[in-house]
Amino acid sequence: MKIRPFKVEQWMNEWETKAVYNLGETCIDSLRVDELLNLCGVDAGEYLRKLGGARMSYGHIEGSPELRQGIASLYRDISAEDVIPTHGAIGANYQVIMTLVEPGDNVVCVKPTYQQHYSIPESIGAEVRPLQLTYAGKFLPNLDELNRLANRNTKMITINNPNNPTGSWIPDEMTKEIVKTAERVGAYVLSDEVYRGISEDGEYMTSIVDLYDKGISVGSMSKIFSLAGLRLGWITTKDANVKNACLARRDYDTISCGVLDDMLSALALKHKDSVFKRNKSILDGNRAVLDKWVRETPQAEYVRPVAGTVALVYYKKNISSREFAVRLLKEKGVLVTPGECFDMEGSIRVGYAYDSKRLQTGLEKIGELLREI
Ligand SMILES: Cc1ncc(COP(=O)(O)O)c(C=O)c1O
Repeated sequence: MKIRPFKVEQWMNEWETKAVYNLGETCIDSLRVDELLNLCGVDAGEYLRKLGGARMSYGHIEGSPELRQGIASLYRDISAEDVIPTHGAIGANYQVIMTLVEPGDNVVCVKPTYQQHYSIPESIGAEVRPLQLTYAGKFLPNLDELNRLANRNTKMITINNPNNPTGSWIPDEMTKEIVKTAERVGAYVLSDEVYRGISEDGEYMTSIVDLYDKGISVGSMSKIFSLAGLRLGWITTKDANVKNACLARRDYDTISCGVLDDMLSALALKHKDSVFKRNKSILDGNRAVLDKWVRETPQAEYVRPVAGTVALVYYKKNISSREFAVRLLKEKGVLVTPGECFDMEGSIRVGYAYDSKRLQTGLEKIGELLREI
């Protein structure tokens, strides 16, 4: 199976360790284990003794009941039996696409998005039909275009909601229209919801599985729980055939998730209100910092992100995004992700969910380079 290089992951692998001001991150300020225990109100000594007693077997093959119940609690109408734990959302996306998409199918996929969603189907021999999100369209899918692209041969429509790299969020009315198109052609809708869960207004964020029985939601502990080191994600769907097919494949590529990952994830899920409270305050504060900077920087513009942890910032300079990003790193110590990694030239992706001081300084340094060019 030939597959294109994963541009954003290669960029991060190459440059992440060289950054002084890392605005390439997509996770909300990652937690240390002791910080997590503290947030959960758990006595560290007692908990570490409990961990000490955990046997390093394969554990619960399909995830512990506490873990699956915790994940189900993130959805309105999902039961623990509908949840399949995976190795990160990256494992979940891979498993869903490899299980359902076959050579000769077509897949309609929003772009920009996480590259798995178009490069894996392409590598399988499926036709990928990009549904381009645009600045003018506020990075929301054009429904007429979607209707034109989807046909009887469409196996799957893939959305990423909230979207990486733009921070857009598809309103429910629009998602319902996407579902209508999927129903018309008999397609699954895979919604990568790895950034879903903390809204600006504090309201529940609708999942695809709330709206469509053939909807498949992917999530993980990495971004909104700040626990990427656990490498724990999931697939959830009400479609029994999809569930069984993914479980059958999972025996080949996963077996189970780590026992410690399962335990710590279950703990964080049980105390999700405390984790989300911490993380919402980081997101709200930092989004305001970013917004102020964009408004005060004449060489920059963006569609204000409404969800997730990243924004796509356009710069009004005649320089490629890769060259700009490399200069930012070498001359100013600031890491961002060039828009080119998402086929979005003329822009950079800014991750704003770390500490606000680092964000503020990083943005000032981007402003400096913009003035110097
Ligand atoms: C949209 C999207 N999906 C999936 C992933 C993979 O996340 P995980 O750490 O859960 O594997 C990422 C990571 O950046 C992402 O941005």
